[in-house]
Amino acid sequence: MKRIFSIFLSLIFVFGLAACGEEDSENETVSSASTSSSAENISSKPNSSESANIGEFDLENKTVLLNSGYEMPIMGLGTYSLSDEECYDSVTALLENGGRLIDTAYMYGNEAAVGRAIRDSDVPREEIFVITKIYPGEQFQNPEKAIQDALDKLDIGYIDMMLLHHPGENDVKAYLAMEKFVADGKIHSLGLSNFYIEELEDFLPQVNITPALVQNEIHPYYQEPEVVPYIQSLGIVVQGWYPFGGRGYTAELLGDETLNEIANAHEVTAAQVILRWNLQRGVVVIPGSSNPDHIRENLDLFGFELSDSEMEQIAKLNRDEKHDWY
Ligand SMILES: NC(=O)c1ccc[n+]([C@@H]2O[C@H](COP(=O)([O-])OP(=O)(O)OC[C@H]3O[C@@H](n4cnc5c(N)ncnc54)[C@H](OP(=O)(O)O)[C@@H]3O)[C@@H](O)[C@H]2O)c1
Repeated sequence: MKRIFSIFLSLIFVFGLAACGEEDSENETVSSASTSSSAENISSKPNSSESANIGEFDLENKTVLLNSGYEMPIMGLGTYSLSDEECYDSVTALLENGGRLIDTAYMYGNEAAVGRAIRDSDVPREEIFVITKIYPGEQFQNPEKAIQDALDKLDIGYIDMMLLHHPGENDVKAYLAMEKFVADGKIHSLGLSNFYIEELEDFLPQVNITPALVQNEIHPYYQEPEVVPYIQSLGIVVQGWYPFGGRGYTAELLGDETLNEIANAHEVTAAQVILRWNLQRGVVVIPGSSNPDHIRENLDLFGFELSDSEMEQIAKLNRDEKHDWY
C-alpha cells in the first residue's frame, strides 16, 4: 500500500513538473524525479519545506526529500578505502565544514570510526545522515545479525539509511529483514546499490517498501543517461559513486580539457564542476577524500551554476566507461 502511495506521489510530481516547465533561476530547487531528458539539467520551481516534492533538490537547504519522508543532504563524503584514523579525521573534517552526509559500508571496515567521529562531534545526531550497506554472502544469509552488527559498530542510535551493496543470492530476504528494522525505528530509510533497470524490474515487485535511493557508479565518463532518469521516474533518488572516476582514474578525469575549460570560466576546480553537474542532474554526490582541503572544496558547490550549454558539453564526454565491475 505504501508503495502504491509513493508511486502515486511520484506520478503527481512528474506531471507537476511537466506542467511547471521552464527554469526560473531565482528559485533554488532541482528536480531529480522525471523521465524527460530535459530533466537531466536544472529544472527549478518554487519551493519551501512545506511544499517539497519527493526527489526534489532544495539547493538552499542542500537537501532532498526521500520517499520515506526523511530529508537527506545532497552532498557529503564517501569513506571507501579510508583506514580507521583517516576515516575518523575525514568525517570530523566534513562535520566541521558543514557536511552532514556520510557513506560507509560493512565492506569498508570503518563503520566504527564513522560512529566514533559522529559521537565525538558537536553536531546534533539528528542533523547527520549516515548510509551503510550490507554485503552479499554471509550477511545476506543472516541479515538480522548483519544489520544488528552495523547498528552496534556505528553506535549512533539508529541508521539513517541502509543499502544492499549489490544484487545477489538472498537479496530479497536481506531487504525484507531491513524492512523489519524500519518498522522498529532502527533504520529510517532503505536503498539499493549497483541495481540497474533489469535488476530493479525484477526486485521491486518482491518487496514492500520502495527503496528511497539507488547508489550506482556515475561520472562524466560513465553517465548512465537511461538508468538515471528511469530510477528518478520511480520517485527514487539517485546517488553516484566514483564521482571523480575512482582511485587510479582521477588524474585523467580531473585533467579533462572540457571540464577544466568550464572550471576556469567559473573560477572553480574540475572536481567542483563534476559535483555541480551531478547536482544539476539530480544526482546526490559522495566524493571520497582524506584531505581536509578537498573535503571543504567538495562542499563548496553553490556559488556557481552550469549553463545548459555547459551541461551539454559534459553530457558529450560520456564514454560508457565503467571503472569497476559492478
Ligand atoms: N556502492 C558501491 O558499490 C560503491 C563503490 C565504490 C565507491 N562507493 C562510495 O562512493 C564514494 C566515492 O568513491 P571513491 O571515494 O572510491 O572515489 P572518488 O570519489 O571518485 O575519488 C576519490 C579520489 O579523489 C580524490 N579527491 C577527492 N576530492 C578531490 C578534489 N577536490 N580534488 C582532487 N582530488 C580529489 C581523493 O584524494 P584525496 O583523499 O587526496 O582527496 C581520492 O583519491 C566512496 O568513498 C564510497 O563511499 C560505493
